[in-house]
Amino acid sequence: MTVFPKNFLWGGATAANQYEGAWDVDGKGVSTADLLLGGTYDKPRTFTKEVKPGAYYPSHQGSDFYHHYKEDINLLAGMGYKTYRLSVAWTRIFPNGDETEPNQKGLEFYRDVFEECHKYGIEPLVTISHYEMPYHLTEAYGGWGSRKVIDFYVKYAETLFKEYKGLVKYWLTFNEINIGMMFGGYMSLGLPIKDGAAPFNPEMSDEDIQNNLQGLHHQFVASALAVKIGHKINPDNMIGCMIAGNVNYPLTSNPDDVLKAQFANEINNYYCGDVQVRGAYPHFAKRFWADHNVKLNITAEDAEVLKEGTVDYYSFSYYSSNALTTDPSKSEAAGNFSTGVKNPYLKYSEWGWAMDPKGLRWYLNDVYGRYGIPIMVVENGLGARDEVESDGSINDDYRIEYLKGHVEQMKEAIKDGVDLIGYTPWGCIDLVSAGTGQMAKRYGFVYVDRDDDEKGDFSRKPKKSYYWYKKVIESNGEEL
Ligand code: BG6
Repeated sequence: MTVFPKNFLWGGATAANQYEGAWDVDGKGVSTADLLLGGTYDKPRTFTKEVKPGAYYPSHQGSDFYHHYKEDINLLAGMGYKTYRLSVAWTRIFPNGDETEPNQKGLEFYRDVFEECHKYGIEPLVTISHYEMPYHLTEAYGGWGSRKVIDFYVKYAETLFKEYKGLVKYWLTFNEINIGMMFGGYMSLGLPIKDGAAPFNPEMSDEDIQNNLQGLHHQFVASALAVKIGHKINPDNMIGCMIAGNVNYPLTSNPDDVLKAQFANEINNYYCGDVQVRGAYPHFAKRFWADHNVKLNITAEDAEVLKEGTVDYYSFSYYSSNALTTDPSKSEAAGNFSTGVKNPYLKYSEWGWAMDPKGLRWYLNDVYGRYGIPIMVVENGLGARDEVESDGSINDDYRIEYLKGHVEQMKEAIKDGVDLIGYTPWGCIDLVSAGTGQMAKRYGFVYVDRDDDEKGDFSRKPKKSYYWYKKVIESNGEEL
């Protein structure tokens, strides 16, 4: 008997705009992600209203999965994957978002990908929208700020459910939906931004909060409608939410720090989780809205839809934790998605992310205690630079150590009684970073020969971690 259940879904995860490339091939339209330039740790990515000739847009080539999918799925199968989480590029199916008929070439591509997965017994797990949408919807409608976008999304989701009935059973409606309420106005909600602006906006005014929360409300309604339709088309469909898992610790036992951390966990995790799992906004939402002068347009019909369209399982990403304090003399931690101050008990990655496997156990217990439905960890991993040795090997022991620690903590959580059903580490084959747009920040078990100067031939090579993870899967998490 192993601690992990017999049918545990071991796998890995990618997203179209960071991985597929072929950004303008076979009728694909321009997505919001296609207009983001590459950045670095110190230099934020920026948005351009039009594609500038000669400039570097990482999504345009990604890791060229579009032309490597057979090889890549074969590599995943080589590790014994049971599931593969990938996203569909909305712009391959509806290039502008508001067409009446889908693009057949786009539909064919994903059909081929899903069939290839099934050849090896790999169950696809599909994110319907991962940090991108047709840019036309931003320009012509104002992105998720508009209610009309709900209908476009629902039509897109319905097309996928019908087209891939029998091929795809596991779905996620939106990637890290809670990033929309934090700083992802453009990235997550497709809200218009100025030419040259960064896609993340950490300094949000009350007006920004109003706009983001209204956009987010539209996403909640769209997600709930998609859940309802997805179940109608195929009652076997398992449709989940996906939250960026935020673990916020108080830096000290000062009650002010404790309250600050509690508030951060509520706002960052439960605001969205409660709507999608419980079907209603949580108790603290009203005060939050009042404190920021937010007035949401929520119709009686919306409230009904939210209640009816709750998800079948809860999924989340987990990379690191934050330590929060009310003491202004403490320095801010670095890291493009991190908030708070340095936690003296933890080590940090080169990109400033705290490495904290125990935070994962904490989060699993916390969320399972609140919702009591099956849970999947659909992203986790260490973004790091990899060296190719002179003999061609890539010895990523740091990645193995990071992942091992997290698998151990998942095991503890299962022993605690959490109903954990799957684990798909992020960027299983190297891909472009969402935060910085860099290729240098690698997560994969498989190395892709491509760098930030656009050099490399996209050839693939398993790293040391590839063989480690294969053993983990083979032994159902016993051999770490
Ligand atoms: C999650 C996203 O936030 O974190 C992924 O869902 C992203 O798209 C991942 O790639 C890691 O972040 P980054 O910035 O290192 O790519």
